Amino acid sequence: MKIAIFGVGGFIGSNLVEHLVEEGVHEVVGMDVTNSKLAGIEGANFKYIEGNVGSDVTTAEELTEWADAVVDLIAYANPSIYVEAPLDVVQLNFFENMKILDYCLKYQTRLIQYSTSEVYGKRTRDEEYVEDSSDLVMGPVTKQRWIYAASKQLLERIIHGHGLRGDLDYSVIRPFNFVGPRFDYLVPAGAKGGPRVFSHFVSALITGGPIHLVDGGGQHRCFTHIKDASEAFSTILEHPAAHNQIFNIGNPDTNITMRGLAEMMGGIYTELTGKAPSNEIIEISGEDFYGKGYEDMDRVPPNVDKLRALGWTPKRDLDNIFREAIAFYLEPERHASIV
Ligand SMILES: NC(=O)c1ccc[n+]([C@@H]2O[C@H](COP(=O)([O-])OP(=O)(O)OC[C@H]3O[C@@H](n4cnc5c(N)ncnc54)[C@H](O)[C@@H]3O)[C@@H](O)[C@H]2O)c1
Repeated sequence: MKIAIFGVGGFIGSNLVEHLVEEGVHEVVGMDVTNSKLAGIEGANFKYIEGNVGSDVTTAEELTEWADAVVDLIAYANPSIYVEAPLDVVQLNFFENMKILDYCLKYQTRLIQYSTSEVYGKRTRDEEYVEDSSDLVMGPVTKQRWIYAASKQLLERIIHGHGLRGDLDYSVIRPFNFVGPRFDYLVPAGAKGGPRVFSHFVSALITGGPIHLVDGGGQHRCFTHIKDASEAFSTILEHPAAHNQIFNIGNPDTNITMRGLAEMMGGIYTELTGKAPSNEIIEISGEDFYGKGYEDMDRVPPNVDKLRALGWTPKRDLDNIFREAIAFYLEPERHASIV
């Protein structure tokens, strides 16, 4: 199959390319504004094109025409951007993604759209999130962090509408906290906002800076190993029953609180380096850490029965997920952003 990946230079994209190069089955061309995370990932079946989907429209369109399947990973995916620049988020995460959808409609190319587990929004019932039956509950407009989930939700609804009309072959993926090598980036000691939680904790362990526990650190999340996520992608790409369907990709067995995660990562750090962390723990409100307009979910529990029914199951546990990701960032050549 010929696969075009938009946003190939990011965390999920670079790991997906590594996986597809290892498989060596499909021909892959990826486009992004940056390829720094693709360093060292090479294969006869992979080609990178530097370009911006918003301005290099001819290239993006030609790539969609060439491909049998388009994978759309383009988005701002960090909560601080949702609260600082909500209009930039809707521009990229909705309008630029709509362009890719339009190319897919024009050339009748299959679309594999990465959405988010955040479309489920606030948890109003003590249940796992199920793709085709759970309600999607957004917070108020004045909490602008929901613009990320709202943009993705509208995109999903339009994609589904085309599926119903019969003019689009699609699969929508809702990722639940993928973690692994190349996840986000390191930040200097004491930094607030910016990347997602793993990056803050691993940066603190490396720099010796404080560990910020946002809103007390009692929130729960289920994490997913990026390799499990890439294998789930292959199942969705190849299984005949995955067409015109929405899938959670997550691991229900890795639930942990943010306070528990900080402790667990500290333990792994000690085992890997022989040094016990002595970081100060600072409790801070979500608005002080990410900015005004931030709100959080207490739990985001995935139900993955739909994907299990196609033969996929997550295989890697919490220790596996974080050991590999921490080891990646312990390499001194990855410390440029914190010195
Ligand atoms: N990582 C997760 O656990 C997670 C969770 C929920 C949703 N998602 C979704 O999965 C997708 C990928 O996430 P990620 O973690 O790899 O994020 P990422 O930020 O690492 O990757 C996004 C990539 O898109 C590229 N990009 C942005 N604008 C572009 C443009 N105009 N033209 C070309 N390239 C552009 C960026 O340069 C970046 O490399 C996003 O849609 C995100 O919302 C990821």
